[in-house]
Amino acid sequence: KRGAGKIEEAEPWNKLLLPASSLPTDPALYVGPFPFYRRPSELGCFSLDAQRQYHGDARALRYYCPPPTNGQSPNFDLRDGYPDRYRPRDEEVQERLDHLLCWVLEHRGRLEGGPGWLAGAIVTWRGHLTKLLTTPYERQEGWQLAASRFQGTLYLSEVETPAARVQRLTRPPVLQELMYMGYKFEQYMCADKPGGSTDPSGEVNTNVAFCSVLRSRLGNHPLLFSGEVDCIDPQAPTTQPPTCYVELKTSKEMHSPGQRKSFYRRKLLKWWAQSFLPGVPNVVAGFRNPEGFVCSLKTFRTMEMFEYVRNDRDGWNPSVCMNFCAAFLSFAQDTVVQDDPRLVYLFSWEPGSPVTVSEHRDAPHAFLPTWYVEAMTQ
Ligand code: A3P
Ligand code: MG
Ligand code: MG
Repeated sequence: KRGAGKIEEAEPWNKLLLPASSLPTDPALYVGPFPFYRRPSELGCFSLDAQRQYHGDARALRYYCPPPTNGQSPNFDLRDGYPDRYRPRDEEVQERLDHLLCWVLEHRGRLEGGPGWLAGAIVTWRGHLTKLLTTPYERQEGWQLAASRFQGTLYLSEVETPAARVQRLTRPPVLQELMYMGYKFEQYMCADKPGGSTDPSGEVNTNVAFCSVLRSRLGNHPLLFSGEVDCIDPQAPTTQPPTCYVELKTSKEMHSPGQRKSFYRRKLLKWWAQSFLPGVPNVVAGFRNPEGFVCSLKTFRTMEMFEYVRNDRDGWNPSVCMNFCAAFLSFAQDTVVQDDPRLVYLFSWEPGSPVTVSEHRDAPHAFLPTWYVEAMTQ
């Protein structure tokens, strides 16, 4: 008994000096009030062209152009052009944070928040934060996030898990076509110019992307993150980004209450997390039939998505998502103490387990490029 007491007494001392070695993800642990989340503001943007080249402007931004609402339903053939008019991005290329770092480097001298703001911030992709938000409810796919501290800033960059790599390399043809169909829907819904018309006859090139760079803060964690934006609505009540942006999504047509319930529990959670983070107010869904045609559209307001699961015992809770994300960011801040761009902490998570961490130096996990470190050190 005395021995056990000794261990218990030693524990708080241990906790004060050493960062936690793992972080649980059970939703019940994160129930509570919604944490502070600063209204996201757009700091800037950049574009990637058909060759995946970076441009510090909005050239790849497209304009929301829904079909006329004259009583007729749409009839978008999402399989049209596959595979002959499909130019998929090379997924073997691991871009990590590179394009975002390019933007940061270009704007570091004139960031709002004043000098020193960046040193206290977390820099990452919106998509990485989306995965953190949905973690307490995710039962299928794990993740790995690499973290380095450099000039005070904490950088987070996803690492493809071995399982995800196998899945990608053995992706069945139906799933490859389904991926194409998501992008094809964008082509039916967007014009290249404001007031222009759509042109579904062209190629679908997934190298092209428009990215918004946003500032926010979760709890006491200032955030600088970037996310791909599908289009801007020139008719939106306000033309101020990100409020004028629209996220486009496709989903299977639903015919039973069970299908609807599962859509609200799984898909709406992902749609909410992805659009809530950058403050994109509307998600326009195209529902496809088994033949791959979109025959109906529905706009979901990001801020109302939770209502579909509010009274569902097996639904999701935005507070849990945000509280877990805040807890993870604190865990990462406490773990990555040394300021060293060559030092990497790899956070790993598999469903049913806590987040664990391991320490690495240089290749293959170091992700802050020499060109960035050297230019920032000037
Ligand atoms: P849908 O989600 O409408 O099917 P986004 O919706 O984020 O703008 O992404 C556009 C499309 O890219 C998606 O359209 C989907 O086809 C594809 N995509 C995005 N994330 C994916 C993922 N994790 N796995 C497979 N395809 C993905
Ligand atoms: Mg997109
Ligand atoms: Mg989309």
